[in-house]
Amino acid sequence: MKDVIVALDFPTAEKTLSFLDMFKEEKLFVKIGMELFYSAGPSIVERIKARGHKIFLDLKLHDIPNTVKRAMNVLSGLDVDMVNLHAAGGSAMMKAALDGLTRADGTRPLLIAVTQLTSTNQQLMEQELLIKLPIDEVVMSYARNAAACGLDGVVCSPLEAGKVHEACGMEFLTVTPGVRFAGGEVGDQSRVTTPAEAARLGSDYIVMGRPITAAEDPVAAYRRAVSEFLEK
Ligand code: C5P
Repeated sequence: MKDVIVALDFPTAEKTLSFLDMFKEEKLFVKIGMELFYSAGPSIVERIKARGHKIFLDLKLHDIPNTVKRAMNVLSGLDVDMVNLHAAGGSAMMKAALDGLTRADGTRPLLIAVTQLTSTNQQLMEQELLIKLPIDEVVMSYARNAAACGLDGVVCSPLEAGKVHEACGMEFLTVTPGVRFAGGEVGDQSRVTTPAEAARLGSDYIVMGRPITAAEDPVAAYRRAVSEFLEK
């Protein structure tokens, strides 16, 4: 199901909850990242869930398979809707993560893989990680590995969504940050698309932070994102 995910990049629970107070009618799909989770603790998940919002817990796990499996098992108990890990951890780690995430009743949150962070470029990959292949090929190979392990999708640019679907199938989800309103501030994102373009390119979920959280009227900005992305 296509949706807009609002990145709650706030430093504290208080700031996060007062932002969410503005949304009286909407049930949102929100992203909690490391900053908020580490500062506010797991209770922030419960407090946001209690308000009826869906949660993408963006903690990007990467460790030995057994550790990731046990950590995912803990996260599955938090009743989040989507979690992620680094595909660079390998197939055994991804399969262990799925195993740990699956609850006794067979349900589980969506599991999404990060391929290469957008802060990684060709030079860093070649000189520090000693990976000599073109970055696009590396990203697609990681995406195929994630799909083969049974994961639900990857984080990628809307510009890569079509290629990912071609390689991994239309059911394989693309969760895409780097989305800006036409004429809006680009900030530190280098390649951006609008919500409508992201929809045309095949994004399943767009992740938008500052264009909504820093807007003068966040509720109006959120509604605009939803209506452009879902073409309402
Ligand atoms: O404020 P903005 O819309 O740029 O927020 C985008 C969100 O998506 C942030 O939480 C950022 O960390 C995350 N993200 C990203 N690019 C990636 C992966 C995650 O912008 N490649």
